[in-house]
Amino acid sequence: MKNLLAPSILAADFCVLGEQIREADEAGADYIHIDVMDGMFVPSISFGMPVVSSIRRATGKLFDVHMMVQDPERYLKDFAACGADSITVHAECCRHLDRTLQEIRELGLRAGVALNPATPLSYLDYVLDKTDMVLLMTVNPGFGGQAFIESSLEKIRTLRQRLDAQGLETDIEVDGGINRKTLPRVLEAGANVIVAGSAVFGGDICKNVKELKEMMK
Ligand code: DX5
Ligand code: ZN
Repeated sequence: MKNLLAPSILAADFCVLGEQIREADEAGADYIHIDVMDGMFVPSISFGMPVVSSIRRATGKLFDVHMMVQDPERYLKDFAACGADSITVHAECCRHLDRTLQEIRELGLRAGVALNPATPLSYLDYVLDKTDMVLLMTVNPGFGGQAFIESSLEKIRTLRQRLDAQGLETDIEVDGGINRKTLPRVLEAGANVIVAGSAVFGGDICKNVKELKEMMK
């Protein structure tokens, strides 16, 4: 499977957001990871549709929208209209996860399911056929710059084994606390889409993207 790097713009300097996205794009970022937080499911409020439509002009890379939003089905059409290519919803936030995933695909987008660190993989049992990507949170969602949760490694490994056993090539995305130390470990466990916030936007963006991508070869 292809390894892909998805810089999380939550760690970018919002004053020059477009320029920083362009820099990450040109350095070789595969996706742009967009953390939408509602102040309900997670304590923070980040940004929403107007920001996503503006930054759509900065890059042609795939917009990987991670909705940390209660009842996210309320906003699927809006995010599709402002340029999302993939929408990931938290299983914990959806009363009708199966229906929500179908709706995302009907909008022509890739559908993702996110699980918090404490949420069991069994939440995926009956929806894998409707899921293009599983996002395993490797920190508790809500903030950038937190420490990687060690128990995630076993969870990634177990999920990859289950997917392989079912002959599924579903992407496994990891998000939170990914840096030069944790990256090789999550890759080895079976993750292939790598979100990195502070490890990309903290310091020299171009150098960071290139170094992380090199480690993913
Ligand atoms: C956390 C967000 C992450 C976050 C990752 O709730 O979903 O995408 O920005 O930041 P780092 O890579 O700094 O842990
Ligand atoms: Zn995220």
